[in-house]
Amino acid sequence: MAEKVLITGGAGFIGSAICTHLGGLGYELHVVDDLSFGRRHLAPVPDDRFHKVDIRDREAVQRVFNAVRPDWTLHLAAIHFIPYCNANPVEATEINIIGTINVLDAADASGSCKRVFVASTAAVYPISAGAMDEEHTTGPMDIYGVTKLATEKLASEFHLRTGITTVVGRFFNAFGPNETNPHLIPEVQQQLLSGSRTLKLGNLDPKRDFIHTQDMSRAITALMKSEMVGYDTFNIGRGIEYSVREIVEAFERQLGERITIEVDPTRVRKVERMHLLANVEKLKRMTGWEPEWGIDEGVATLLKERIEL
Ligand SMILES: NC(=O)c1ccc[n+]([C@@H]2O[C@H](COP(=O)([O-])OP(=O)(O)OC[C@H]3O[C@@H](n4cnc5c(N)ncnc54)[C@H](O)[C@@H]3O)[C@@H](O)[C@H]2O)c1
Repeated sequence: MAEKVLITGGAGFIGSAICTHLGGLGYELHVVDDLSFGRRHLAPVPDDRFHKVDIRDREAVQRVFNAVRPDWTLHLAAIHFIPYCNANPVEATEINIIGTINVLDAADASGSCKRVFVASTAAVYPISAGAMDEEHTTGPMDIYGVTKLATEKLASEFHLRTGITTVVGRFFNAFGPNETNPHLIPEVQQQLLSGSRTLKLGNLDPKRDFIHTQDMSRAITALMKSEMVGYDTFNIGRGIEYSVREIVEAFERQLGERITIEVDPTRVRKVERMHLLANVEKLKRMTGWEPEWGIDEGVATLLKERIEL
């Protein structure tokens, strides 16, 4: 019988890519999502395996876990667009922290769950110029990073209390199809697909480590299938950083057209990290994983996509 995987946030940007990947490998998938940011059609599961539930509703979450009895739980449901979290700190805290407690407790009480993956973020790290490995000190700079550091601590406490193997993945900047939040790449994509060749953007110099959602999905699957037992944390990035200008240049190469950038002062963030780069040696060592998607291949597919932000 196929192993059952319950994915919270499976109608979102990264969660839906993981569903597609695991579905292709033959797992039986169940999605929990309240569709606040995700979209039903992105979750590739039939209606009886789609559970429209808010993870803040502790009893409803437990009912789903009791009915599904998953072998693995992948917990991605969260709110994470940083300006939204800054504007709604109580909601971010309730979903990202209390929602995580509800999901982890339900996974334990289901009696079936053998492995848990919890999505964290590079935003738990402080400002730093070089590549950061998992031993780097943490020091989140915003409410989102604070909630995700709390999520990590809850995952660790969950493992100590239950003995269930628990993997934390610190995601760097995801890119790929079906992005649900107005991050840099979908913003550029949307402006270009609407016909503009003069982009209005915020800060141009910050560099980020962009990893394609298909590479992320392969990394998470490799971690879940690995021999690892206990509790551990892994960076999930590509190990290369690109500035905003370099991303725009990748779009220029794929379009074969000149793009002009105008700095829009309303989009400039007052506090900005200049670098956010992963050291991914631990992930590679543990799983043999290697990224397959470069920026240019990813951008080429995005230019063929219709987006609906
Ligand atoms: N996108 C990135 O670059 C990035 C980087 C670092 C970490 N992450 C983390 O990865 C995970 C997935 O992010 P994403 O980019 O796919 O974002 P997303 O917003 O597309 O996905 C999150 C999903 O969670 C759902 N959700 C939100 N609140 C919920 C609630 N109360 N109950 C049930 N479902 C709820 C949303 O509807 C959405 O489908 C998140 O945990 C996020 O913090 C993402």
